[in-house]
Amino acid sequence: MEYILLTGGAGYIGSHTALELVNAGFNVISFDNYSNSSTEALNRVQQLTDKKIISIEGDIRDPEALRQLFTHYKVTAVVHFAGLKAVGESTQYPLHYYDNNVTGTVTLCQVMREFKIKKLVFSSSATVYGDAKQVPIPETTPRSATNPYGQSKLMIEHILEDLVAAEPDWAISLLRYFNPVGAHHSGRIGEDPNGIPNNLMPFISQVAVGKRDQLSVFGNNYPTPDGTGVRDYIHVVDLALGHVKALQYLNKNNGITAINLGTGVGYSVLDMVNAFSQVNKVAVPYQIVPRRPGDIATCYAQPDKAATLLGWRAEKTLEDMVRDSWHWQSTNPNGYN
Ligand code: NAD
Ligand code: UFG
Repeated sequence: MEYILLTGGAGYIGSHTALELVNAGFNVISFDNYSNSSTEALNRVQQLTDKKIISIEGDIRDPEALRQLFTHYKVTAVVHFAGLKAVGESTQYPLHYYDNNVTGTVTLCQVMREFKIKKLVFSSSATVYGDAKQVPIPETTPRSATNPYGQSKLMIEHILEDLVAAEPDWAISLLRYFNPVGAHHSGRIGEDPNGIPNNLMPFISQVAVGKRDQLSVFGNNYPTPDGTGVRDYIHVVDLALGHVKALQYLNKNNGITAINLGTGVGYSVLDMVNAFSQVNKVAVPYQIVPRRPGDIATCYAQPDKAATLLGWRAEKTLEDMVRDSWHWQSTNPNGYN
């Protein structure tokens, strides 16, 4: 039997992608150290799909564990989600971020190479565009980073580009995600952040469910229509389907390609708050507070390359995003616990 390996497969995007890959007929193995996730996520994916997902606990910085995995299972491609993703934390613990994200990726690729596995989908981020001068943002935009998390993604993109330059038989997709939100429509899997959420949508959901008093809106004096920050929010199920398409693309195309996964539409913080409360009929109290250091005004994708190369476009609406976020949050107020 042939398998797709998901590093970080128990995480937010990994678990949704596992579900869509199984639905598309792939056999899936997850390799995760559970540093930011729970074994329950993939139990639920198995319940939803009625298919077995092999879950292995391990760290991508452990080459012996990866060798054992590749010896036991015939893996044809790797979707590499494993990584740490909190921008603020990365400025406090830069070495930990570089070790986990950069060293981890290098170790993974070295062991893949030993086993002649040369198809890789990498979870990159719109953060590699830094503060882009123009929106919508095409993949050709010059890259930069303003914090260790962003640097780690940028370094990995460069490392993978060098690898393909040296060994052109690799097939690698750098998927640059914009802002993933929402949850599977079943409400059984979703985003389960540790502690106080950094990101907007889980914070809104926790305010709505009564876990937090109010949302702090970070600044209303940006050069945007209502003064609050504008982002390209993409439903996590659309994002997951983009990975299925990327794997199919890698079966036919060697080399390395960067592809935006976004909708091409920007919504402000207040657009999100208003949509959430109107669609779900819940109150989301908020106050305006000063800007968060490091935030940019506006960020949204030019999404056409994904349509041309992968035949993929985001299809879900803002209403789908806020409804599915609330369905997950309201039926699992304490996440997977
Ligand atoms: P997540 O934290 O839910 O998932 C990451 C998973 O990787 C977790 O299950 C974690 O336990 C695991 N992991 C971390 N380090 C590991 C290691 N050394 N070995 C094995 N497993 C490890 O995050 P997510 O939102 O699902 O993000 C997945 C990927 O997408 C990450 O690489 C992230 O940087 C990237 N990304 C996320 C966003 C976002 O806003 N969610 C945006 C752009 C890019
Ligand atoms: N925001 C608030 N209050 C909050 C949280 C966020 O007003 O409590 C605002 C932010 O100022 C920003 C918008 O909501 O205008 C979105 O903020 P998020 O933290 O949800 O997302 P970011 O765009 O800042 O960053 C996210 C990921 C990064 C990734 C980046 C680009 O967290 O890891 O998208 O992909 F790099």
